[in-house]
Amino acid sequence: MKRRHLLVGALACAASLSAYAADAPIVIKFSHVVATDTPKGRAAEFFKKVAEEYTQGRVKVEVYANSTLYKDKEELEALTLGAVQMLAPSLAKFGPLGVKEFEAFDLPFIFDGYDDLHKVTQGPVGRQMLDKLEPKGIRGLAYWDNGFKSFSANFPIRKPEDMKGKKFRIQSSKVLDAQMRALSSLPQQMAFSEVYQALQTGVVDGTENPISNLYTQKMHEVQKHLTLTDHGYLGYAVIVNKAFWEGLPKDVRAQLDKAMKEATEYANSIAKKDNEDALAAVKASGRTEIYTPTKAERDAFKKALFPVHSQMQDRVGRDLLESVYKATGCHCIKAAEQK
Ligand code: LMR
Repeated sequence: MKRRHLLVGALACAASLSAYAADAPIVIKFSHVVATDTPKGRAAEFFKKVAEEYTQGRVKVEVYANSTLYKDKEELEALTLGAVQMLAPSLAKFGPLGVKEFEAFDLPFIFDGYDDLHKVTQGPVGRQMLDKLEPKGIRGLAYWDNGFKSFSANFPIRKPEDMKGKKFRIQSSKVLDAQMRALSSLPQQMAFSEVYQALQTGVVDGTENPISNLYTQKMHEVQKHLTLTDHGYLGYAVIVNKAFWEGLPKDVRAQLDKAMKEATEYANSIAKKDNEDALAAVKASGRTEIYTPTKAERDAFKKALFPVHSQMQDRVGRDLLESVYKATGCHCIKAAEQK
């Protein structure tokens, strides 16, 4: 995204702030990169609906799905410049902003399921992490679930060695980079909007995703194999431009807080089922072969991937990692030593 374009957006935002007095609706541009028919896409639409209802038209939420406004990296830049007001980037995408702590969520096998995850996202550790965004001019409002990732590729994946030397698309997280290297594969970082084409043309051999993302981007049509590894988590932090949020009339902000609380409950109540439905749809399509690894096969992935925890503990922060382990009961570093 050209910087000039962003600046024009930021100026437009400043103009809209000064328009409060003139009774013009306050516009919240909410940009994201996935399809509308995903947990995040549906939650964004839900937020729009309740926010506009509670504020009785004083706030207008414009949702831009599927990278139609900005791609991954650009959207964070746009938020800090004030060209958009709200985003829900994946937790794997905060590193380039200088907030590496969120990459703890990317550590392989760190959560055993949604209940484990919620012990972090719905507790004090999750809040502490959101607070790290404040010095960047960003307010973290909530965590929205998506789901657990599986590997897909144009070759069958049964064991870690199958991935050796193959190119895999990853998000911008250094933990994910280390994860792929631990499997001796070649990580290729790229924006979400570019993944389908990269898979189709063979620029990369495979990728990792919760099934809702795989299905709604039609990646299963260009991936012959899907192995249900559930080896890591992908979810979101809903964030706003801090100056914008603090500049809102107090009563409006209170209504938006209420709308966000409900949207968060909604998001986190649909994510699991959305992913199950997406898996059923991928199965029904017959376009990709779906494989469920045995316990022994999954253990082999754990053995290969647990060492990423100790490798990355300094990057994400030892104390933070300890707090996450304490909340979930995962002793992943010890597990690596024992395996
Ligand atoms: C990805 O880039 O794979 C995901 O972060 C996309 C998303 O927002 O779920």
